[in-house]
Amino acid sequence: MTLTMVPEIELNDVTMKYRTAASDVLAVDHVSLNIGKGEFVSLLGPSGCGKTTLLRLMADLLAPSDGTLKIAGRSAKEARLARKYGIVFQSPVLYDWRKVKHNITLPLEMMGVSKAARMQKAEVLLDLVGLSGFGDKYPWQLSGGMQQRVAIARALSIEPEILLMDEPFSALDEFSREYLNEELLRIWSNVKSTVVFVTHSIPEAVFLSDRIFVLSPHPGRLSAVVDIPLPRPRTKELRNHPDYFKLIADIRDRFEGV
Ligand SMILES: Nc1ncnc2c1ncn2[C@@H]1O[C@H](COP(=O)(O)OP(=O)(O)OP(=O)(O)O)[C@@H](O)[C@H]1O
Ligand SMILES: [Mg+2]
Repeated sequence: MTLTMVPEIELNDVTMKYRTAASDVLAVDHVSLNIGKGEFVSLLGPSGCGKTTLLRLMADLLAPSDGTLKIAGRSAKEARLARKYGIVFQSPVLYDWRKVKHNITLPLEMMGVSKAARMQKAEVLLDLVGLSGFGDKYPWQLSGGMQQRVAIARALSIEPEILLMDEPFSALDEFSREYLNEELLRIWSNVKSTVVFVTHSIPEAVFLSDRIFVLSPHPGRLSAVVDIPLPRPRTKELRNHPDYFKLIADIRDRFEGV
């Protein structure tokens, strides 16, 4: 990303302190960062470093204790009300009694979109995430990886400018995860949303991202911003490339002693 990027997400000195009965927990400590429109970035760090907290702040699911956020030039609340966000969580959170196509179009149903338009959109989304023909199945008839694709399709149904993903593939086996990483890049190249992807896997962050925000825990601080200049489109062959290994090793070194 160059300095001329249009900032889509701006955090200025954001601090998040959770108040609990026992004591306060400083989860995010004075984090400032900019994410460009259409950029794919990862938030990378060990458990407890504040990744989910940062994502929830960006999504206006939490309000910061201090500092400011700007999303597409407005407040996070305004961005949420304008439906700028699609969110994908670690577990797909699907409704088992609704068919796949009805899970995918739930946000559109809540917006009052007509049934005909919803079903048309479902077909497009099923095709986009590689699930054509599965719309009439129920979530429990699908594998974990397929369920996560449904969750991605649902998040994309409102055509969000920003896709926030919190460890979406961490419950999957290595093969499915690598495959879905490739699929996610294919989907992203079609929809061109800004993506903020949370992970504690260094290889996953390197494979996917334009830039990686490296976080350190207790309290959660931004410890480095790493550019990933690997060419796109990125395919599975990249996983055997020396440049890929080198970036992984460089980032791993940054965690020494964390
Ligand atoms: N609702 C809450 N109340 C109190 N403390 C919290 C709350 N949510 C998170 N924390 C604390 O804030 C810190 C950051 O938590 P967060 O969930 O953001 O980390 P994370 O990087 O997403 O971790 P993981 O990789 O395990 O998901 C942790 O110390 C956690 O215990
Ligand atoms: Mg988390």
